Amino acid sequence: MLWIHPVIQLLGILFAILALRLGWKRYCAVHLGRKCMFPWKEHVQWGQLAEGFWLGGLTLGIWAARWTWRGYGVTGAHFWLGLAMGALILFSFISGTVMDKVKKKRTTLPRLHGFAGFTLMALALAELVTGSLVLARLFF
Ligand code: HEM
Ligand code: HEM
Repeated sequence: MLWIHPVIQLLGILFAILALRLGWKRYCAVHLGRKCMFPWKEHVQWGQLAEGFWLGGLTLGIWAARWTWRGYGVTGAHFWLGLAMGALILFSFISGTVMDKVKKKRTTLPRLHGFAGFTLMALALAELVTGSLVLARLFF
């Protein structure tokens, strides 16, 4: 059980890197005025996959921690950063879906969505570090 959650979250990080790479092209085109092709559909697909894995993995992590320790928040920072990610994932998913379904010229929403994407990547890397520390404490 201990390994399923980290593996799912690592796959989520991989898919998110692909989504962010494509999202960066859109950012360059819209905000930096560079000529870049934005593969819209691929970005949405990788983004949905990444956030689906992250949300599923987060739920499993909470369940696994409760099963192992009979409590919530035992992992400290790893738990709180995970909850912050949950809220940001919901915002990123809803804003992304709105922009995908109702297409029009926008400035604020893509910026907020892009900022949420960058923040999610940073938080996921922090989760990788804090999660590895939890594993290290359990095994050494
Ligand atoms: C997107 C990244 C991640 C999120 C959002 C996340 C979230 C969570 C949450 C909310 C918990 C429950 C903590 C508690 O109740 O105290 C948890 C548990 C845990 N996480 Fe993560 N996590 C992520 C990535 C990782 C990674 C990469 C690793 C390992 C390298 C890891 C290792 C663990 C471990 C060992 C537990 C204890 C659960 C158990 O008993 O199996 N996590 N995680
Ligand atoms: C880890 C997940 C994701 C990351 C890192 C991410 C990142 C980004 C970034 C950096 C941009 C450029 C924003 C800008 O121009 O300022 C963008 C745009 C966009 N994203 Fe995402 N995104 C993610 C998930 C999603 C999801 C799940 C959806 C749809 C369900 C989505 C739909 C869109 C759309 C439609 C745009 C273009 C908006 C426009 O310029 O009108 N994204 N994303």
